[in-house]
Amino acid sequence: MVNKSKLFEGKAKIIFEGNQPNTLIQHFKDDATAFNNKKKGKILGKGKINNLISEFLMKKISELKIKTHFIKRINMREQMIRKLDIIPLEVVIRNIATGSIVKRLGVNEGEKFKEPIIEFYLKNDQLNDPIVSQEHIEVFEWASQDELKKIISISKKINNYLLDFFLMRNIKLIDFKLEFGRSFENKKEIMVADEISPDNCRLWDLKTNKKLDKDRFRLDLGDVEESYQEIANRLGILSSKKTKREY
Ligand code: TMP
Ligand code: ASP
Repeated sequence: MVNKSKLFEGKAKIIFEGNQPNTLIQHFKDDATAFNNKKKGKILGKGKINNLISEFLMKKISELKIKTHFIKRINMREQMIRKLDIIPLEVVIRNIATGSIVKRLGVNEGEKFKEPIIEFYLKNDQLNDPIVSQEHIEVFEWASQDELKKIISISKKINNYLLDFFLMRNIKLIDFKLEFGRSFENKKEIMVADEISPDNCRLWDLKTNKKLDKDRFRLDLGDVEESYQEIANRLGILSSKKTKREY
């Protein structure tokens, strides 16, 4: 962490200037927040685990010929990423009802949707990341119609892949959030940004439905660190109980 200029500090990550043109360094913290920063805490070892899980999943996704911002992992907490023009949307893909959709629409918790549902939220903490329609996105020019088409198609492709990928590891992918950005080299190119980890996915054990993601922190369910570790173990990334002391 020497001689790096900090560009931005978010709730779970810090972004530093990269040492090559159009690159950044993404540093994963142990800090966790929920409910738009109302609940704050730390999940010991989370930064390291999410760095590794996100590296692993971004690499898998790029095998599907989907472009991502990931370039390479630098160390246990940091990765080099492409600098993108970030599209100010959180794209949520839902397979099973839980979380905010249950409260908003009164659907039954645990209900499987006949098709995955894609929702868009505006990335704006002051407004509490409100849900927005495709018309809002086009009229306010957060993304063009063509970009939205690409975002929807990439999101569906990632969901299809990850559903099976997690299922083979006895995990149900309930829902997850993606972010996207435009490449500075080719403005027409949309890439997956941010991270894919238990911070922004809901992952339930196939048999018991035990939540193995950030909901354990959000809802004070206990076993928070252990659940992140469990996901890393099932992905074959870390052998058990290693992260806290050895890295
Ligand atoms: P939600 O049910 O609370 O709307 O969350 C949907 C998905 O999006 C879930 O996998 C958690 C993820 N998510 C984030 O990554 N960041 C957020 O700020 C929120 C609210 C949800
Ligand atoms: N992004 C949320 C927050 O503002 C965290 C979450 O619920 O995932 O704290």
